[in-house]
Amino acid sequence: MSQGKRTAGRAAADLVDTGMRVGLGTGSTVFFTLERLAERVQGEGLRMVGVPTSVDTERKATAMGIPLTTLDQVDSLDLTIDGADEIDARLDMVKGGGGALLREKVIASISRREVIVVDAAKVVERLCRKFLLPVEVVPFARPVVRRALEQLGGRVVLRLAEPGRAYVTDNGNEIFDVAFPDGIADAARMEARLDAIPGIVETGLFCGLAHELFIGHDDGRVERRRRA
Ligand code: A5P
Repeated sequence: MSQGKRTAGRAAADLVDTGMRVGLGTGSTVFFTLERLAERVQGEGLRMVGVPTSVDTERKATAMGIPLTTLDQVDSLDLTIDGADEIDARLDMVKGGGGALLREKVIASISRREVIVVDAAKVVERLCRKFLLPVEVVPFARPVVRRALEQLGGRVVLRLAEPGRAYVTDNGNEIFDVAFPDGIADAARMEARLDAIPGIVETGLFCGLAHELFIGHDDGRVERRRRA
């Protein structure tokens, strides 16, 4: 676990003010956000309510004593703090390494301010040169979607929970991890093309959704960038 993740995750938790409705992302960097929020709820009497982006985050936040609500109770969020697997200079991202992409994108879509927390290793020039693109798929449509992704130049691997058993998301779907050998040059165009394929529920490309980026460094510095 990099020190940078802890630095970024905790720093972003200090953006939360009393009365806020906060989207709670998923992953090992957001874990530190949850930890800091719990400290503030218990120690400072911070009054906030969170909407988790995964069952995993829901369990962790509940165990830490962070008050939660659901999308039935809120129509927008003041702030969301989430992680990413890769992020570029435009603050376009790849997400879904932890399988939570669908709920993360729903939460991002209703957030007035989406703050992304990463360590420096996640910042890249071009998306998907190294990281595989997660694509959430309805199981019935698996072969159709696989062929469509291959036609776009992708090399497709079904994510497994263990040998011989497909990974299943919180929403009952499966995930293809897709390699694009040269990366993705135009992420917004690729996102739109993938969204048009029937059977794809959501992709891990998040274009135009992040407002701000916190990059945590191992020496304790936090570098903040805003979307241009
Ligand atoms: C969850 O599906 C992902 O989108 C996470 O936001 C991402 O994987 C977070 O990465 P870290 O665990 O490195 O913070």
